Order: sequence, then C-alpha cells, then structure tokens
Amino acid sequence: MRFTLQIEIETKEIIEAKYQTNGCGYLIASADVLAEEIAGKKLFELHGLDKNVLQTKIETELGEFSEHRKHCLQLCLETLQNAFADFRAFQIEEFSGEKALICTCFGVSEETIEKLVKTNLLETVEEVTDACNAGGGCGSCQPLIQEILDVLNEKNYDIIENS
Ligand code: FES
Repeated sequence: MRFTLQIEIETKEIIEAKYQTNGCGYLIASADVLAEEIAGKKLFELHGLDKNVLQTKIETELGEFSEHRKHCLQLCLETLQNAFADFRAFQIEEFSGEKALICTCFGVSEETIEKLVKTNLLETVEEVTDACNAGGGCGSCQPLIQEILDVLNEKNYDIIENS
C-alpha cells in the first residue's frame, strides 16, 4: 500500500491525497476514508495524526472492524504516518539554514523560534505553535521547542537575578 500526498510547501496544505493498494476491500475502504479526511487540510489541523482519532474516524464511517481485520486498519494508518515521515525527511533535506531545523513538518528553524520567543516573550509550546505552527503537526518537535523555551527563559531569569 502507498499514500501519495501533494503538499503545498508554503502553507503546508494537503492539496491531494491518493493511495494505491492491492489489498482487500477493508484496506481500500479505510484508505478512502483517510484520504478524504486529510485532503484539503493543513498539517496543523491534523493534530499530529493521532492514530486513535483516525481509527475512530474510520470506524465511525465503516463500522467497527472485527479482530481479524484490525491489521488492515493498522496497516493503513501506519502507511499514512510513513508518508508524512517521508515529507519530514524531505523538509530536512531541503533545509539550508545555519541553525538546526526544529520542526520538520513546518520547516521552522531554531533561529526562527528563538527570535519569536524573545520578541514576543513566549512561554509555552502552545504559544510558539500559535506564532509559527511549529509543533502543530506530528508533535514530535514539541520537546525540542520546550528545550529552547527552557534555555531562553533560564537566561531571562539570570538577567533578572543579575540586574
Ligand atoms: S516536526 Fe512535526 S510538528 Fe514539528
């Protein structure tokens, strides 16, 4: 099975989601629901592709899968997650900034996050996500964003203590 995603680089909107499979009808039906669910959405709207949320979506549309068909559903979800992992790998390859690329879903660098935190006095990961989308896709960069916040906020405290 394979998902092919067409993603607009600037806006991170999923323009089109297609799939190919030579699997069973359950797999095809699941892929169909997922492709329809994600097409037209922006990555941050997918809330990290939470497997449980997507599974519920599929089972709401198609009814609960029997135990011996659950693997069809899991294969479909994993294939979709792998497609997004490929997109993140592509973002890393394309990135040419000086500092580290923190959020590969949205192509946001450490430099950009640091600048936003300092300029807007951001204190939480959610505030960073609101400001630049970083952390609002798969969510895997959230610990790194938290680390940046911790370091910068520690520096702020030092400044306050020393002044
Ligand atoms: S790497 Fe996916 S949300 Fe940042």
